[in-house]
Amino acid sequence: MKNNNIITIDGPSASGKGSLAKALAKKLNFLLLDSGLLYRAYSYCFDKTENHSAAKELFSSLRINSIDYEMHIFEKNMDITSILRRENVAKSASKLSSLKETRDNLISFQRDLAGDHGLVADGRDMGTVVFPDAGTKIFLVADAEVRAKRRFLELQNTGQGVNMRDLIDDIRLRDEADKAREISPLMPADDSIEVNSSNLNLQEVLEIVLKIYKENTKEV
Ligand code: C5P
Repeated sequence: MKNNNIITIDGPSASGKGSLAKALAKKLNFLLLDSGLLYRAYSYCFDKTENHSAAKELFSSLRINSIDYEMHIFEKNMDITSILRRENVAKSASKLSSLKETRDNLISFQRDLAGDHGLVADGRDMGTVVFPDAGTKIFLVADAEVRAKRRFLELQNTGQGVNMRDLIDDIRLRDEADKAREISPLMPADDSIEVNSSNLNLQEVLEIVLKIYKENTKEV
């Protein structure tokens, strides 16, 4: 049975998943699950503790809040979301995410967030592994240069200076690692629909995805 309360958006880094997921959540009043942020938070905990059981314990002490349809993570009373968005955290999240222990420690946590309300889940394996029964599955892609440019602007807006050439290389390496890993590799679910956002603005992508969602949830 398909669950029309869940929309999954998977795809490579900087394909526009985050902005689309937020806009969809806002439009439909759904909760947003930013699974990449959870992998980043887990790797932040692992960097501090250097073993999985302590990292899991520290991770479970973090607080997750939804603020204006965005996921924020707090350690004690400090919002650490902007720290988690840094490139160095992305790099260690990418390495740790290929390990079974890491994925096992996060999977039920992600499913528990679904609850009874609507959920937009953004990541790499949302449609294939975490929510295989999701009623709408989108695989969002974009050309590599477009993605690097988007990530460059994102990082620049948060005051992080980065070199474009290094960024292109980092994104490419992370995508290759995500696709090649044995557990939960980045790939489209058989029942997903691919959307290419290279030449589209957010509003245009949102309209395409809303149309797909409405079609899937139409009463017959
Ligand atoms: O999406 P974001 O760039 O925040 O994700 C950080 C890293 O976490 C990715 O490079 C990927 O390796 C990992 N990740 C994952 N599975 C997910 C979401 C993110 O392996 N569902």
